[in-house]
Amino acid sequence: MHHEGEIIENSTTTLLKGKLEKKNQELEQRIIERTQSLESALNAREQFIAIAFHELKTPLTALRLYIDGMLHKQVNDPEKLAHLFRNIQEQSIYLENLINSLLDITTVLKNGNLPSAIQPQKMDLAKLVQDIAERFSQDFHAANCTVTLKIDKPVIGWWDPIRIDQVINNLISNVIKHAPCAPVTISVVEENQLAKLLVHDQGPGILMTDRPNIFNLFFQGSKKSDNKGFGIGLWLIKQFIEMHQGTIDLIDVDTGSCFLVCLPLKAE
Ligand SMILES: Nc1ncnc2c1ncn2[C@@H]1O[C@H](COP(=O)(O)OP(=O)(O)OP(=O)(O)O)[C@@H](O)[C@H]1O
Ligand SMILES: [Mg+2]
Repeated sequence: MHHEGEIIENSTTTLLKGKLEKKNQELEQRIIERTQSLESALNAREQFIAIAFHELKTPLTALRLYIDGMLHKQVNDPEKLAHLFRNIQEQSIYLENLINSLLDITTVLKNGNLPSAIQPQKMDLAKLVQDIAERFSQDFHAANCTVTLKIDKPVIGWWDPIRIDQVINNLISNVIKHAPCAPVTISVVEENQLAKLLVHDQGPGILMTDRPNIFNLFFQGSKKSDNKGFGIGLWLIKQFIEMHQGTIDLIDVDTGSCFLVCLPLKAE
């Protein structure tokens, strides 16, 4: 015979037990998910470090070979000497730029997608694009690219000016580097609460087979180019754009390459 009090106590205990078990399962699930995400972050870092070392080794080996050549062959011809020094200077600049880009990547990996990684302020995207195009005017000229800017009016939004500068900078550098001797059109418009930046060049374009990988870290494209990069730019700016809850896409076009960046006027 059970007393009424005992029955209530038993059912309360069963209820509590059930709740505890549920909580336990939830906690276990959270631990599994957390471990998985930590493992994949760790793998990404390991992969990054391996590739970074590999990339750093290339210019360093070149530098060592130039210096070895100078020491062992005892180059006396001033013209040859000047040529070797220029090569050394070029490789040093390449190395310096690579290290700066690697530092940028480390910052992104450290901050992840946290909103604190950006410092938005009120700015005019149209004006910034105009300024940067102006900044690059010498390089455009040297690369034989004619630029058409399609900008009618200011496009005001809340973004991190340094990050957005890098976005525009990388897209324009890519045109100069990978699509020289061809016209390029850059436009900025506001549509449906989005700022849209379109960079469309008439260069060699991007191979169909390369397209799925174009935003991957260290992906350099299979087309031979005289102006080799690191394969960091597009990956890096995609992170910056996503920090603003925006998107970047490679648009299908008949000729050349066309990149579309969409940014919400104000990130949440
Ligand atoms: N406008 C373009 N025209 C043709 N190919 C391009 C263009 N932009 C990018 N690519 C291709 O996409 C690849 C990846 O571009 P990304 O900017 O990430 O790297 P990169 O320019 O090679 O080096 P980095 O930007 O790190 O100096 C390039 O190597 C190139 O093959
Ligand atoms: Mg680039």
